[in-house]
Amino acid sequence: MFNYTAYDESQATFFEIAPASELPNGERLFIEMDGKPIVIFNVAGQLFAIADLCTHDDGPLGDGDLEDHNIVCPRHGAEFDIRTGQAVQMPAVIDVPAYPLKIVDGNIWLGLPKE
Ligand code: FES
Repeated sequence: MFNYTAYDESQATFFEIAPASELPNGERLFIEMDGKPIVIFNVAGQLFAIADLCTHDDGPLGDGDLEDHNIVCPRHGAEFDIRTGQAVQMPAVIDVPAYPLKIVDGNIWLGLPKE
């Protein structure tokens, strides 16, 4: 998995997503990159991006409740840490990809792993 916490800018190619003003505190932004659904969270001014697809059975993670930094899958209750993508609660045992983000000139940029 592409893990945010292990990210090194040289490993990613960044793409401009949207003005940061479109993602206020407490909100979520749903995008698709390379055919992959991704959800970006703004938690107290910090941005985090993970795949919007649960590794247990493809549940829509971005529709789940956020408890601290854990997103709860609305299907069967698996939890993932949005800071790292790590699966932290059964029934999921496989992490989801977590993507690096940066703000440049007021715009959100998201990094995808270089092929
Ligand atoms: S699909 Fe997410 S917990 Fe089952």
